[in-house]
Amino acid sequence: MTMDRYVITGKQRLEGRVRTSGAKNAALPLMAAAILAGGQVILNGVPRLTDIINMAEVLKSLGCKVEFLKNEMKLDTSTLTGYTVQEELMRKMRASNLILGPMIARCGKVNISKPGGCAIGTRPMDQHIKGLKELGVTIREKHGYIEARAEKLRGGDIYLDIPSVGATENLMMAAVLAEGTTIIRNAAREPEIVDLQNLLNKMGAKVRGAGTHVIRIDGVSKLHGAEHIVIPDRIEAGTHMLAAVMTGGDITVENVVPEHISPVIAKLRQGGAEVIVNGDSIRVRHKGKFKALEIKTLAYPGFPTDMQPQFLALLTIAEGTSILTETIFENRFQHVAELMRMGANITVEGRTAIIRGVPTLEGAFVEATDLRAGAALFLAALAAEEATVLEKVNHIDRGYENLEEKYRALGAKLHRVVKHS
Ligand code: EPZ
Repeated sequence: MTMDRYVITGKQRLEGRVRTSGAKNAALPLMAAAILAGGQVILNGVPRLTDIINMAEVLKSLGCKVEFLKNEMKLDTSTLTGYTVQEELMRKMRASNLILGPMIARCGKVNISKPGGCAIGTRPMDQHIKGLKELGVTIREKHGYIEARAEKLRGGDIYLDIPSVGATENLMMAAVLAEGTTIIRNAAREPEIVDLQNLLNKMGAKVRGAGTHVIRIDGVSKLHGAEHIVIPDRIEAGTHMLAAVMTGGDITVENVVPEHISPVIAKLRQGGAEVIVNGDSIRVRHKGKFKALEIKTLAYPGFPTDMQPQFLALLTIAEGTSILTETIFENRFQHVAELMRMGANITVEGRTAIIRGVPTLEGAFVEATDLRAGAALFLAALAAEEATVLEKVNHIDRGYENLEEKYRALGAKLHRVVKHS
């Protein structure tokens, strides 16, 4: 694998228009849902990202046909043959655990290697497993593999202890073909869940309540193919909005659903930025100092954990002392040490970061440890004096489509150095 770097010259004022791509975290479960279809599923607006390509590899390894041209993906899962996802593919991407629900519904059996911890936390799967058992699935965890088997799935009443996004998605996809009705209580309410409900219903499923805490699924015997457009990526959109503020710029972000990022809009306004919402585009302008904030990450519709690192980067140059608390993942402060190399003043106490604003950041050698930490350092580099060398940008490639092109068009000075190892 290559591990590229960016060389970014900061302090360029960014302005212009930028179009948000389709949401990675919506597209991944939609691709998994294609397993349930007897026919072809066509997804439009699929971002060309490494995580998406890896998910396509997982589906191909199970015998599915996947065609991916520009941003259109055609999935034909009628040729499905395998039921074991190799450890190597699983290691590349945690989200491959999303095939568990649809595979058990379609084939009655599936083996996946157990995902390990990752840079942002331990990320267990107990809620997925508990819910599947409720639907009649037998689970054996052996030699690092999860082996799931079911003669027949039946509806069940599931209460999630945590409103887990992945568990909600997996259980929805298992329950659509179960006999009888399934209720998922304390379900995650993220927009990506609503997008999944919409595709499943187009395929002939009967799912109601996505976007609320209670999802009801009436099982059907069979699903068919469908066509669907992936929702815009709310985290990508939020990242561009912060770029406008951090460079004292003026950016119009196109292809956004403003309701999906209301916490980001509210916090930017609270800090003094001008945010103008106009249909499906949002213009963000900022001059002068941004004010310190208090932020706590929560499940949707609370403040998204996937925007926490980027906001932390912004708050390093805000006026005053900010307090940022991460409640979703236990280890999502790896960007802190790197931001401190750039001159930030941050203290971490458990799950809380105390950020004392400094007048400016300085370019440095820094490293992306995961996707959103990488995005935070990218933003910090745009705002910093002189040049920053940002290592391991392949983490950023997992979640931001055409980042260099988009930022060059906005006036950023950056180039990528491709390293072969
Ligand atoms: C999704 O991960 C996203 N990934 C993540 O995006 C995002 O950070 C996260 O939701 C929270 O919004 C995809 O959609 C592919 P969870 P997911 O299950 O589904 C704990 C990004 O940068 N938990 O809602 O894995 C878990 O450990 C990423 O794009 C259990 O304890 O998140 C975590 O602390 C990274 N047991 C919390 O719940 C379980 O069985 C939330 O996890 C499941 C989860």
